[in-house]
Amino acid sequence: MTPDTSTPARPRRSLPPLPLVGRDGDLAALGEALERAAEGRGGTVFLVGEGGVGKTRLAAALAERASGDGWRVLTGRGYPVETGVPYALFADAFLPVLQSLDAATLQLMTRGGVAELAALFPALDVAGAAGRSASRGDPADVKARLFWTFASFVTRFAARAPLLVVVENLQWADASSLELLHFVARQIAGARVLLLCTYNDAERDVNPSLGQTEQSLVALGVARTHHLAALPREETVRLVERAFGGDGAPARAFAERLYEWTRGNPFFIEETLKTLVEGGTLEQRGGGWTGWDVQDVAVPRSVRDAVGERLRRLGAPAFGVARWASVVGGRVSHDLLATLTGLSDDALLAALDELRAARILAESHADLGSADVRYEFAHPTLRETVYAGLGLARTRAMHADVAAALERVHAEYAESHAGEIAAHLLRADARALAPKAIRYLVAAGREALAASANREAASYLAAALDLADRGEPTAGGEGWSAGRIAAELARACQRLGEHEEGLRLWRRARDEAAAIGDAAAEADAERRMGLACYWSGRYDEALAHYANGLDAARRSDDAPRAARLQVARGACLQELGHVAEARSAVREALAIAERARDYALLARVHRALLLLHAWTGPPDEARRHGERALALAESSAQPAVAWSAHWAMALLGGLTGDAAATAHHVAESERLAESLRSPTLALWSAEVAIEYASGVGDWERGLTLAEHSVATARALGQPALLSRLLVWGGLIHLGRGDLARGRECFGEAWDLAGASAAADDRTATPLDVHTVIPAHVGMAAYHLAAGDRERAIAVGEAGLAVAERSGYVAWAVHRLLPIVSEAALWLSDFDRARLYGARMREASRQLDHRLGLAWADACDALVAELTGETGRAVDMLRRAADALDAVPYVLDGARLRRFLARALAKSGDREGAARELRRVHEVLARLGAERELALTRAQIRELGGRPPVRSSSTAGAEGLTARELEICRLVAARKSNKEIGAALDISPRTVSTHLSNIFAKLGVESRGELTDLVRQRGWGE
Ligand SMILES: Nc1ncnc2c1ncn2[C@@H]1O[C@H](COP(=O)(O)OP(=O)(O)OP(=O)(O)O)[C@@H](O)[C@H]1O
Ligand SMILES: [Mg+2]
Repeated sequence: MTPDTSTPARPRRSLPPLPLVGRDGDLAALGEALERAAEGRGGTVFLVGEGGVGKTRLAAALAERASGDGWRVLTGRGYPVETGVPYALFADAFLPVLQSLDAATLQLMTRGGVAELAALFPALDVAGAAGRSASRGDPADVKARLFWTFASFVTRFAARAPLLVVVENLQWADASSLELLHFVARQIAGARVLLLCTYNDAERDVNPSLGQTEQSLVALGVARTHHLAALPREETVRLVERAFGGDGAPARAFAERLYEWTRGNPFFIEETLKTLVEGGTLEQRGGGWTGWDVQDVAVPRSVRDAVGERLRRLGAPAFGVARWASVVGGRVSHDLLATLTGLSDDALLAALDELRAARILAESHADLGSADVRYEFAHPTLRETVYAGLGLARTRAMHADVAAALERVHAEYAESHAGEIAAHLLRADARALAPKAIRYLVAAGREALAASANREAASYLAAALDLADRGEPTAGGEGWSAGRIAAELARACQRLGEHEEGLRLWRRARDEAAAIGDAAAEADAERRMGLACYWSGRYDEALAHYANGLDAARRSDDAPRAARLQVARGACLQELGHVAEARSAVREALAIAERARDYALLARVHRALLLLHAWTGPPDEARRHGERALALAESSAQPAVAWSAHWAMALLGGLTGDAAATAHHVAESERLAESLRSPTLALWSAEVAIEYASGVGDWERGLTLAEHSVATARALGQPALLSRLLVWGGLIHLGRGDLARGRECFGEAWDLAGASAAADDRTATPLDVHTVIPAHVGMAAYHLAAGDRERAIAVGEAGLAVAERSGYVAWAVHRLLPIVSEAALWLSDFDRARLYGARMREASRQLDHRLGLAWADACDALVAELTGETGRAVDMLRRAADALDAVPYVLDGARLRRFLARALAKSGDREGAARELRRVHEVLARLGAERELALTRAQIRELGGRPPVRSSSTAGAEGLTARELEICRLVAARKSNKEIGAALDISPRTVSTHLSNIFAKLGVESRGELTDLVRQRGWGE
């Protein structure tokens, strides 16, 4: 039934609606942001000001303007009672539109990510989401996938029509909404989206993550803050004149006084006027208003006085409804109010009419689609005043009643509204309802965990555990014992990085499991404790937990659990450098899985063996396990396992110099990452692809990929991956001779990896080997390129020490040994160089590492050349260079050939030397390896030759690469760096790097000169 909206319960004198005044400047500023967004330069604006200053009104004015221009407008609001409900703010804004799309469209707009959206917004009850769980897999990856899916939905949705999203009252936003906001705000820079976020700055500090979110986005340059001030005196006067249609001196004098009372706060102005009009002080008589001479009799002294005064005028039923509505907090449905107040239909309708006529409650327009009418307070201050008047004891009792009423209203669907119900239980005196409260709190906590809303999950679960701990006799009702709740809470803590607390909770879960003889739960808890220790670098403790877990698994005769424990143990042992023991642990897992004929498990175990052998050799063994893992992963339908096997096989291909295998497995892993819709896995694939492109000399592709991946890793908050991506990209910059850019990348990577801490204090800090070593690679490579050989050796040695200690032999061979041996050579420290060469050879043999062997050969050959054994050196250099080219590892191959040319010249074969140098020149020009190229040209001149004209067949223009030529054309078309970047999908900074290379190559000094040159030579066509 719909309430009758025509006649209020009793006739009342009411204030005419206030026209909008004094906001031209603010509207113009926001309008600009709107225009920018319309052009595809999306952004975020924080609209900030004191309570009642007019944020909502201004946002509404902007929304109206946008709608008129064909924009789509979505509005979401935060409510204080929802502070703990995951993604409440975004659910509020997006649910209506998400629910209005049919399943097929939704599938299309999310590229099959409906399950992810449903995980974020459980109320989105869609077919297709049920069958697939979005929350499988590594928690960090799940979260990235959820956020990513939502952000791409937003940009895709905005492709049809520009989108204005207004999110209001951020001071009450839940932690996950703010996290999601932070994520989305960084993804919309190129979309037709404007995010307008309002909050009350007086309350900003109640929500610490709000300040951080805003600051971070502003610092990143993707958001602006717009401060909204109260109305100035003259606008207050104008407001009164326009609202009451009077411009006489008395009205003006009144307006001046009004300004003094309210200091121009529109909400206060409005409430004061309402009090005066409703009380009959200001009265409409004949054609005009009278009563302007009111001094300060009965004039409210504060907003609260004004509101309180008006509330006192309400009838008892209306006031009762307002009280219940203030406890419900957000939008409240007609049905819920009926249940709570126990009023008859007629009485409730009359009360609601009274409240609406007094503009205390308003009908909510958010869910027009739903049959249910909903109401909310016309202004947050109204709610606060009513709520504050209730007193603590009564509010706690009323929250309990609201929870009970919600349960009744939602009936059999109550469980799927667990978050909403739990929010009230958290504020209620829940002791009285312990078993039921535990059930909803746990359900809400688990739902939040599935949506990666870890902060909220932790608070629900902690409240549940607290209740269970108070020892209510039936606290274990519905099967949720304290130990099991502790296990759930431990998961949340672990995800939040609170490992100590996680450990403590797992210990509780374990103790309870042991006490009741649940050996399987005991084994699980021990494994989790082991992992927690492992992640914080406490390997010995981790091993002790794994041993206990194995013991429990044996007692319960649980093969899969035992196998998982052995795999975890293997990883830990490997980290400790106990390679042999690591292997036997994982083999043990293999035997268990084979006996159990558990193919899904077998796939995982083979994958673990693949990884183990890829890093420690022998590669054939790794390959064998890799192939088994792939076949099993496919037959047991585990695409994520298949992905990781392909990824590891690509890595193995890279390490062993098998370009074809690398290319194949990189492509397969990229394909799977895409089909798993996982941005994180795609990044891991990209990482291997970049190093591959770097090695084979496809530097354009490598750099473009690195740039994209670095941006994504930043957006996803993946510091370890980001650090490595920066190193691999930086190495290409270094190769091109851009030392400064390389240095920048390596510096950031170094900090991200915590490499300094690793160097200072080798025992206390847990190391992420796979991040710390690449950070050393980058820095050592930089020092070598910059000519500081001693430092190159020092940093390289530090990296080698980490590799050696951890048993990751492959990391020593990959780039580190080549760098330090080269540095030793240039220092003429030949003994040291020989030593490194021998180490490289030995490790490469162990790994069957073709590239490593070629590097070892190169090292020996250079020692021979530099110690004057020219005759031997020529042969050795040629063989080593051929080997490097065969891998292919083109830059090092070409560099070695330069030394071959030198040896040839020394031995009198000038013709041969010139031939090699021409070949080197061609390769380096194609790569764009500027420094090496300059050295080569000098060497050609030394031989008395003339360096070739810098041309390459692909670009056809003075040695420009294809990309550089494209950039020349765009410069000639008068495009800015920004526009060129947008056209080529690279950053403006990369464009400017390219440009300085182009200037150097062509010997021009300005864009104008370059434009002329492009015209002259007809490259523009
Ligand atoms: N510039 C204006 N001209 C006329 N009326 C205004 C103006 N600004 C706000 N108002 C009126 O003042 C009241 C309070 O404004 P509004 O709700 O927009 O404030 P707010 O800043 O959103 O407050 P809160 O922080 O409490 O949400 C509203 O009824 C609104 O219509
Ligand atoms: Mg507001």
